[in-house]
Amino acid sequence: MVALACIPGIFCQAELPRADFRVVPLPNSIENIESSKPFLLTGDCCIICGNDTLTGRLLAEDIFKITGLNLAVQESASKKNQRAVRFETDATVSNPEGYRINVDSKGIRISASSRAGLFYGSKTLVKSLPQRKTDTVSVPAVRISDAPRFAYRGMLLDCGRHFFPVKDVKVFIDMLALHNMNTLHWHLTEDQGWRFEVRKHPVLTEVGSKRRGSEIGWSVGLNDGVPHEGFYTQDDCREVIRYAAERNITVIPEIDIPGHTTSLLACFPEIGCTGGPYSVSDHWGVHEDIVCAGNDHTFEILRDVLDEVCEVFPSEYINIGGDEAPKTRWEQCPKCQARIEKEGIIATDGHSKESALQGWFTHQIEQYLNKKGRKVIGWNEIAESVASASSAIMNRYDSVATANAVREGRDVVVNTSAYCYFDYPQGSDLRLEPKLFPLGETVGLSRVYSLEPVPAGLTEEEKSHILGVQANVWGEFIDRLLLVQYQTLPRMAAMAEVQWTEPANKNYKDFLHRLPNMRKSYDTNGYFHRAHIE
Ligand code: ACM
Ligand code: ZN
Repeated sequence: MVALACIPGIFCQAELPRADFRVVPLPNSIENIESSKPFLLTGDCCIICGNDTLTGRLLAEDIFKITGLNLAVQESASKKNQRAVRFETDATVSNPEGYRINVDSKGIRISASSRAGLFYGSKTLVKSLPQRKTDTVSVPAVRISDAPRFAYRGMLLDCGRHFFPVKDVKVFIDMLALHNMNTLHWHLTEDQGWRFEVRKHPVLTEVGSKRRGSEIGWSVGLNDGVPHEGFYTQDDCREVIRYAAERNITVIPEIDIPGHTTSLLACFPEIGCTGGPYSVSDHWGVHEDIVCAGNDHTFEILRDVLDEVCEVFPSEYINIGGDEAPKTRWEQCPKCQARIEKEGIIATDGHSKESALQGWFTHQIEQYLNKKGRKVIGWNEIAESVASASSAIMNRYDSVATANAVREGRDVVVNTSAYCYFDYPQGSDLRLEPKLFPLGETVGLSRVYSLEPVPAGLTEEEKSHILGVQANVWGEFIDRLLLVQYQTLPRMAAMAEVQWTEPANKNYKDFLHRLPNMRKSYDTNGYFHRAHIE
C-alpha cells in the first residue's frame, strides 16, 4: 500500500472526513461535479441566512452537534468572498418543499422558494456530514435538485393510551424532522385517557385524564393497578405547535369520536346511550360504549371541545377519528332510534341504519368544522356512509380502499396497517419484541420500504388525491420514549424514503448501504434504535 502524498502542515484531502450526500431519504437528483475541487468546511466558515435566521440557527446547531464546528450565523456577508453556507431564495424551485444544493470549492449554496425548502436542504447537508468531531469536512462538489414525492409525510403518536410529556413529544418531532416528515398526527383522546385541556370543561382533564391501572398483555385479565395520568394544557399544545412549526411540521390533533370515548363518557355520563356510570378505561380493545348520536347535548359538548381545539391548533385539517365505533348501544338506544326516525336515516347496501347514523353524526361535525374553515380527516369508517366527499380518509386498509376512495373524489393518506403500524412486531424472533402487540402481523424494515402507496391503474387526476403516507405508533404497549424509538428506528428511515423519494430512485439494497450513516446520526442525537432488521 503506497501512502498518499501529504505535505506536512498542509491539508491532506485524502485523509479529511468527507461529506456524502447519499443520505436518507435519498435526494432525487445528485450530480457530482468532477471538474471542481471540494469545499472545505471549517470553523471559520459562516452561515449566511438572509432573513431566515431560525433555519440558519438550526443548521448551525446541527453542524456543531455532529462535527464540533461552530459556525457563525449571519444575515449577510461581512466580507467579500466569505467562505460560507449561503441560503438563497429561488422562485424557480417550484415545489414549496423542494431545494437545490450547489457545492463548489468556494462555498455551499442552498436555494429554495420557501423556508421549508431551505430547511430540507439544510437537513440533507447535515445528514451528509461525517458523524465525528473534526476541524475540517471535505464537501464534494455537487449539484442537488430535490423535492418530496408526497406533500403529506406523517407519523401518529398515541398519547391517549400512554401520556408522553412535552419534552418527549419534542424529541419525537426532532425525529420526524430528521426524516423529512412534515406532519405530526397527535392522537389526544382515547378510552384510556383524555389529554387535551378544555377550559370550558375542566372535568375533562380533572377526571378524564386519569385511570386506575393499565391492562398487562391482551385479554388475559391482568392489570398492573398502577394509576396513570397526564394531559396537555393549551399552553403545552401551543408550545408543541410552535416547536413543530419551526421544523416545518404541522400538528394535526385527533379528537376521536363517536367511539374510543370512554374517558369523555366518564366526565359526561349523560351523553352515553345508557347514562353510565362510566370510568376511564383501564384495558385495551374496542369499547361498546360510545357517545349517543340521539342526544343534542352530545353535540353541545363536542362543539365546545372543537371550538377550543380550533382556537389552539391552526392546522387546515382536524382529525375526528371515527374508527371502531360498535353500534350495539345505538341499536338499543331510544334516543338514537328516534334520531334515525326523525332524520329519515335508512340502511343502505351493506350498511345498517346505525352505520348510516354514524354518517349523519360525522356530517354534523364536518359541517361545524367546515364553517370554521377547517377540513376533516378521519379513519376509513367516516367514508362508509358520510354524505360529503370533502373529508379526507386516513386509510389503514389496503390499496383497494385507496383506489375506491380516490375514485369517489376523496383525498387519502395511505396508512395501510400491514406496512405502517409501527407498534406491530418488526421481526419473527419474539425475543426481540420488548412489548408485543399480539394481534399485529410482522412489519419488517424491508416490508415498510416496499410500500407503494399509489395503486396501479389510476388516472393522473385520481393519483392527485393521494396526499401522502403516514406511519403510526399506537401506544397500548409503548409507554416510554425509549420504546417509541425502538419501534420506529430504523423503520422511520424506510418510511421516509416511501414518502419522499421517487420510486425510480428507490432501491432497498442501496438503502441498506446508506442506513449505517443514518444510524450514526441516531447515535449523535441520542436516539435508541433497533439493531436487528428483517
Ligand atoms: C385504528 O387502528 N383503530 C385506527
Ligand atoms: Zn344513543
